[in-house]
Amino acid sequence: ANYTGPLRPQVHYSPPKDFMNDPNGCFVDANGTWHLYYQYNPTDVVAGNQHWGHATSKDLYHWDNQPIALFPPDADTNVFSGSAVTDPENTSGFFPDQDNGVVAIYTLNTDTKQTQNIAYSYDGGYSFIPYENNPVIDSETNQFRDPKVIKYEDTWVMVAAFSQDFVIAFYTSKDLKTWEHASNFSHHGLLGTQYECPNLQKMPIKDSDETKYVLTISINPGAPLGGSIMEYFPGDFNGTHFTPVDNAARIADFAKDNYAGQFFYGVPENEPAVSIAWASNWQYTQFVPTADEGWRSVMSLPRVNYLTNITRLGWDMVSLPYDVSPILGDELTASSADASSLVNKSLALDFSTVESNALYFNASVRGLPPVKNISSTAWFNFTLLSPVSGESLSGGYQFGADNPFFLDRGRTRGFDNNPFFTDKASISQLLDPSGTWSIAGLVDRSIFEVFLDGGIFSGTATFFPTAPLTIFSAATGGLPEGAEVELRVWGVKSAWA
Ligand code: FRU
Repeated sequence: ANYTGPLRPQVHYSPPKDFMNDPNGCFVDANGTWHLYYQYNPTDVVAGNQHWGHATSKDLYHWDNQPIALFPPDADTNVFSGSAVTDPENTSGFFPDQDNGVVAIYTLNTDTKQTQNIAYSYDGGYSFIPYENNPVIDSETNQFRDPKVIKYEDTWVMVAAFSQDFVIAFYTSKDLKTWEHASNFSHHGLLGTQYECPNLQKMPIKDSDETKYVLTISINPGAPLGGSIMEYFPGDFNGTHFTPVDNAARIADFAKDNYAGQFFYGVPENEPAVSIAWASNWQYTQFVPTADEGWRSVMSLPRVNYLTNITRLGWDMVSLPYDVSPILGDELTASSADASSLVNKSLALDFSTVESNALYFNASVRGLPPVKNISSTAWFNFTLLSPVSGESLSGGYQFGADNPFFLDRGRTRGFDNNPFFTDKASISQLLDPSGTWSIAGLVDRSIFEVFLDGGIFSGTATFFPTAPLTIFSAATGGLPEGAEVELRVWGVKSAWA
């Protein structure tokens, strides 16, 4: 496959060619190999003819494309989204002679029906055989999909969406073949037009030995910014019923390109959960200009996720990039001996020599008064600029409780004819009481991801410049006496070169 196109991300997963959407079947095997499957149309750059594509990785950044793992049984049926689990104890009975069995659980979609089906793999997840007694959950509706399975003690638990009824149904099973309905979670949070791709995941709580669960629901269309987005509910799960901590609706990402996120099965429960999401939006995904390079859609960065309950918001899912060390190249500004170097100053860095055209940076601003009191004349801004075309992507924060952090992708011109590809996203409530504000960002040719306040908020935005952005600049102004700013910037090494 050719990953050289100027819009092709270099440390994010994108399909070898044609159209991709949701991550499916995510699991890590006993050898530490991460398996990512995905909704895949191998014959066109728009959605349709859904298969499960497959890729594997040792570090979640360097991926090997694998043969297609699940094929539709006939031309009128699609293999829709779902999940996968390893079954070393042979609870399913498919694997009497091996301990690396994998079972995929997925929706088969026809015009009249959506049903839940399973397939088993004797070769560790590279090829699957559909179960002879499919479906394992039949239905009379064509709006019942996206099964995600986890293990609770010695019981398998599935969540699946009755999409247009706004119901997440919980099922339990001992063998992945026979499923019993256990409970419903319905009409919670933002409804949008339908519920899709639910996930139930146990997660550690920061600085504690305790865990809680998170239920995620993706809604489409009807996101606050339009189109698709994922929301989540921290809560408790007793094996059959999920109880949210409160009635709040929480959005997982403040921009427009983070949907259908899935947690990897097989990560130890006391470690941060690992996830990946589809970095696009159904409002415009089938029109983006990467089709000129023969492909459409990219996954988000892999992320680690845990819960915290220290902010004014109460419970919050913190999301940060999974260990970036395998992709970090040379540091472009060393951590300055004089930590005040960017206090009320600006700095510009030409990174045109970084071959990947990808950059990672983080910055912290320390010594701020509590944000709710601070003078709103203090600010931090950054810009990524093309000196050739004048296009740019920028973001910034005028510190203060009334002000949002903003991200602006509107000054790029490769996709400026789509009314839903809106320019700006923003997030308020950046209220770290410690007097420190932090940002980390990764730009990768046509996708930018930003993590604020240590990952309490994140934003994922695709953008399509007509010329590469090669100058990074950052600046602060109006900071109070004694404030310190630390900025570090690294070139990123291509994972596809
Ligand atoms: C979400 C979704 C799922 C469905 C899949 C089909 O993006 O609509 O509900 O299974 O995509 O590709």
